[in-house]
Amino acid sequence: MRTTDRLVATTNRKLLAWVDDWAGILRPDNVHWCDGSEEEYQLICKQMVASGTFIELNSEVRSNSFLARSNPDDVARVEDRTFICSETEAEAGPNNNWKAPAEMRRELLGLFAGSMSGRTMYVLPFSMGPLGSPIAHIGVQLTDSPYVVASMRIMTRMGQKALDVLGDGDFVHCVHSLGAPLLSEQEDVAWPCDPKQKYIVHFPQTREVWSYGSGYGGNALLGKKCFALRIASTMARDEGWLAEHMLIVGVTPPNGETVYLAGAFPSACGKTNMAMMVPTLPGWKVETVGDDIAWMKFGDDGRLYAINPEAGIFGVAPGTSADTNPNAIKMLKANCLFTNVALTSDGDVWWERLTSNPPPGLTDWLGNAWNPSEGTTAAHPNARFTVPASQCPTISDKWENPNGVPISAILFGGRRATTIPLVTEALNWEHGVFLGSVMSSEKTAAAAGEVGKVRRDPFAMLPFCGYNFADYFQHWLDIGATAGARPPRMFYVNWFRKDRQGRFIWPGFGDNSRVLKWVLERVAGKGEAVETPIGFLPTPGSLDTTGLDISEEDLEALLTLDKDAWHTELDLIDAHYDTFDSRLPAVLLCQLSTLRNSL
Ligand code: OXD
Ligand code: MN
Repeated sequence: MRTTDRLVATTNRKLLAWVDDWAGILRPDNVHWCDGSEEEYQLICKQMVASGTFIELNSEVRSNSFLARSNPDDVARVEDRTFICSETEAEAGPNNNWKAPAEMRRELLGLFAGSMSGRTMYVLPFSMGPLGSPIAHIGVQLTDSPYVVASMRIMTRMGQKALDVLGDGDFVHCVHSLGAPLLSEQEDVAWPCDPKQKYIVHFPQTREVWSYGSGYGGNALLGKKCFALRIASTMARDEGWLAEHMLIVGVTPPNGETVYLAGAFPSACGKTNMAMMVPTLPGWKVETVGDDIAWMKFGDDGRLYAINPEAGIFGVAPGTSADTNPNAIKMLKANCLFTNVALTSDGDVWWERLTSNPPPGLTDWLGNAWNPSEGTTAAHPNARFTVPASQCPTISDKWENPNGVPISAILFGGRRATTIPLVTEALNWEHGVFLGSVMSSEKTAAAAGEVGKVRRDPFAMLPFCGYNFADYFQHWLDIGATAGARPPRMFYVNWFRKDRQGRFIWPGFGDNSRVLKWVLERVAGKGEAVETPIGFLPTPGSLDTTGLDISEEDLEALLTLDKDAWHTELDLIDAHYDTFDSRLPAVLLCQLSTLRNSL
């Protein structure tokens, strides 16, 4: 006999019927509607400590914080198991895996049948975006993972307050099961999942997400990549707005006004570090609005206003240190969930490069005594922290403004050792869309696959765009051409240039404020630039390098057009564009041929 506890209040018939229907399919032992309260969070964390999913950290160094270790076969987003099930394959495009919706539904319903037996099904109502914001949207997730419940409480505004906003309205339907039914007498494991079969499935037409088999990150916290990017990008296309894989920051010059920027960078390219940057330029300030996702809609004044749909930060731990991101280190002092990091002998966490030398006596992410001489890492390269964004020391006082912040410039960036200059300003909106559409980056550990290989990652949305990229590029072109629009300026940046010896030639991190200074000057109609076929490059001397130890030669490499490298790049862009056939907007082909002719 199934029990239900529903202390939350809702009269939304569609929601009540949907939950009932799914309980009948998934067949959990209990159904728990989450109210999102602190008491509920504490209870769920306590239960996870008792079940072995969570290890409570030493409260003297990291209070109210926990470590989880995943199944080693469940450590990252699984892009090859991620599907966009639009009506036709052409709508999903070459950038997505596709299967006919009816066929996928049949296949998954077979797996979902009884997949929660022996477990509790949690009902999580959540808002993506500040409660009641005209840019925000409501989702409801069903899940049998208490780890997901705790994480979603940090990452979204979850519980009764989201139901209050929902009222009798519609919501994005998210179903998640670990795919690990628990038979009576069977002992549970610390990280249940289906290590063999995973499906991260989107039905954009009906605004649904069905996720099976994984409990990790973007596969399981369905508000993030599945809803806020893949489903929301489709909603944005249909409704004339933008759902993007972008950070949002406010940048304030000494004695100046705050200017808001959005920045698209592929996974694990330093978005979180940049979102809470400590500028090395004296008197400059960077404030955080969001570190991963931006939803942008036009205001009455024709400007694009952005909100951060998330309430928390799900950041990559390895590489985060007092040098690379001192604000993150302060932010992580309490109320955090850590996944797949190492455990110290005094009950704290550690990951690669947190300190220059690892402390002795570490337990690695697999739960074994770590022996550095074996050449393994103590933390998994995609180990994560989950923390309320409100704890970020640089959080902007506008971060929960329901109307969002006006965006003056959009940065596109990737991890490229060669070819791409430190900063280039697009010649105009269409040229900016061209630059966004040909963005590329070296692969990182955020997704399963080969690290280091260059891949085209247009707008940093390759794994996240819920429809055909060719149509997405057209949508971007349309946004710039919207009547009365005063769209932001666009810039292409690359913090990752190397010399022939493989040494980074730009210091990055806080010194990126020098690039932001030039960007702000350009936005203000100042800032000197030279026009080149790939866009406006800073004139020598217009980038503020005061106090920076950088050679003329390196600076020249960073700020000049490398024609030979760009000829090679053009061939790669040809191959990239070929994948979209005749659906590719003609404007972009024109941009490409103009570039080829002028090089
Ligand atoms: C992320 C990602 O977790 O992009 O933000 O993979
Ligand atoms: Mn991301």
